Amino acid sequence: MPETLAARTARVFFALWPDAQVRAGLMRQGLQMHSTLGGKLTHADSVHLTLVFLGEVGPEQLPRLQTRASSVRFAPFVLCIDRAGCWRHNSIGWVAPQQTPAQLQHLVDALESALGEEGFEFDHRAYAAHITLLRKARCTPIETKVAAIEWPVREFVLMRSELHSQGSRYSTIGRWAAHEEDNA
Ligand code: 2AM
Repeated sequence: MPETLAARTARVFFALWPDAQVRAGLMRQGLQMHSTLGGKLTHADSVHLTLVFLGEVGPEQLPRLQTRASSVRFAPFVLCIDRAGCWRHNSIGWVAPQQTPAQLQHLVDALESALGEEGFEFDHRAYAAHITLLRKARCTPIETKVAAIEWPVREFVLMRSELHSQGSRYSTIGRWAAHEEDNA
């Protein structure tokens, strides 16, 4: 890692990152929403679902974070994204699962408990799974069912977020696979 990057404090978060096929489906949905709600469409490379947002974490803490994350086990599952809406309080246009699957909630709970044991701090509000597709959208308080996008979840990632004039730029700083045998 270059010296300048290693020394900088970063905003970090755990997330699910879509593969090319899921990303294409999400972007199609995003474009459709953009045509009615306007705002700024999320860049295809940045589309994700946040699991746990940690915020600023010093570089010296990252190894501990990565080690703890590797202790989290979860079985692969399919996430069905079939609902769209727009939050007026932050002007975010989003898609989400109609119901948060138990496996997703389990993964979030497992991460939060591992991070809590290690002394990391994060937002403890009830988990609201969503994928941000629009920012600064002209929101109407309508939520709709949309054509389902089936997202096979086989891994989670740890991301670093840096703010640039063009928006947030993300880089992957950890990746952990699901355990197939946990489905047995
Ligand atoms: P958002 O898309 O709803 O803004 C990187 O910024 C990711 O972390 C985004 O998915 C963002 O959610 C989420 N995020 C940013 N700040 C957060 C916070 N204070 N609590 C929870 N999630 C946050």
